[in-house]
Parts: sequence; C-alpha cells; structure tokens
Amino acid sequence: MKLEEMTWYEVQTHLQESRGIILPTGSVEQHGPLGLIGTDSICAREIAWAAAERCSAIVAPEISYSPAPFNMSFPGTVSLTPAVFESVVRDVLTSLAHHGFERIYILNGHGANLSILRDLEESFQQMVRVKSWWDFKPVNILRDQFYGDWEGMHATPSEIAITQDTHRIVRIDDLAPPEKLSPDYIAAHAGDKHGPPDAHRESFPDGRVGSHSGLAKAEHGKKLLKAAAHAVAEDCLSFFE
Ligand code: NI
Repeated sequence: MKLEEMTWYEVQTHLQESRGIILPTGSVEQHGPLGLIGTDSICAREIAWAAAERCSAIVAPEISYSPAPFNMSFPGTVSLTPAVFESVVRDVLTSLAHHGFERIYILNGHGANLSILRDLEESFQQMVRVKSWWDFKPVNILRDQFYGDWEGMHATPSEIAITQDTHRIVRIDDLAPPEKLSPDYIAAHAGDKHGPPDAHRESFPDGRVGSHSGLAKAEHGKKLLKAAAHAVAEDCLSFFE
C-alpha cells in the first residue's frame, strides 16, 4: 500500500494491526549517458513497493532530494546541503512516529545519504532501521554474476537494469566502456565521497564512475528487483514484529 493513496481512516485502521512503515530514500542526480536522473529514487521505491506487497506494509512517499554535490556539474542534478537533508528526514520520521509508526524501515538507494541516515538511525534507536537495497546477499550474488567488476561505483549496470525493467531503456550506439577504477580509488571514495563538481566531471566526463552501464539488461533488472524485494520483505517482517 502506498501512503499517499490511502485515506486517514485506512491509515488509522492499519495502525491497529501494524506499526511498521517503509520509507524509501534516493537522489535526483545524473546517472551517466544511459541512466535516468531519478535512478536511485526509482530503485528504492520500486523495491519498496514490491516488498510491501509481500509483507502487507505501507510505503511512504520517497525522499528524492538529497546531497549530491559532486554531480552538480551535470545538468539535471539537484543537491541538498547535508543539514537540510538531515532535517527533512528527521521531520518525516518524527511525523510518522507521532502517528504511532514505531518501526520505520528506511530503504536507501543513494550512497551519499548513508552517513546521515546512520546518524538518524542511532538517534531514533530501535524505531528506525536503515538498509540499502544492495545490502543483501542474494542481490549481490546476482550483481556479481551479471557484471563482476564492471558494476563500478556510479551509474551501475544493476541500478540501470532495474529502471530499464520498470521505466525505459536508453540506447546509445558505440558507447565505450568507462575507465576501470583502481582498488585504491574505490577504497578512497567509498560512500560517494567524490571531489568538487568541476573536477569530478573532468575525471569522469560522461558521469559513469567505473560502471559499465551498457551491460544493463531489463531482464537482469527484473531479477534484481525480485531478489531485493524478497530480502527487504523478510527483513521488514522481522523488524516490524
Ligand atoms: Ni545511483
């Protein structure tokens, strides 16, 4: 069930049976030449919707606007300062808690959200659980099987495959693979810690960071979405109990 498509009577009735809700978080940012601007938000909410069907949960409208400063040299990216994002998420959590949602499961789709979400998870204690959709073993087995090292760090073929299944496929003929990342680069930039926007665009001119998005296939996306939804539903059920 989607919160925005329910009446308050229905929410009140649901709360008598379950105190859990899923809140997806994503981003509004460039995802390379083949990736949609809303890739992170689309992945998080589509997986949340599919998971919710399996465990009869409510899904709140996703929080798309978030920090993505390093992508600001690419048109279409919108970036919040970390403090604003923190306040928005905090107010959403506080509102949901006010109505009796005592278990709020944040399903994240954007690496740069994580450090802020983890701090909130700590401050709301047992009320909030934060997971990214790629945290689950069955999902990672598929990512590795489909793409191996070419998954890379940004505009990953796995996230683009999911949007190909749920939305549309962008095709560009003769798009070469991106530059392969060194293990040192990956270690130093984990959690989407990239440099200033102009330097970032200079280093990664088409926006892909080591990710060979051209390997994405809608049929992979369907399998990834299913595996992630299954894992998230199980995790939600244990958290909501
Ligand atoms: Ni992404």
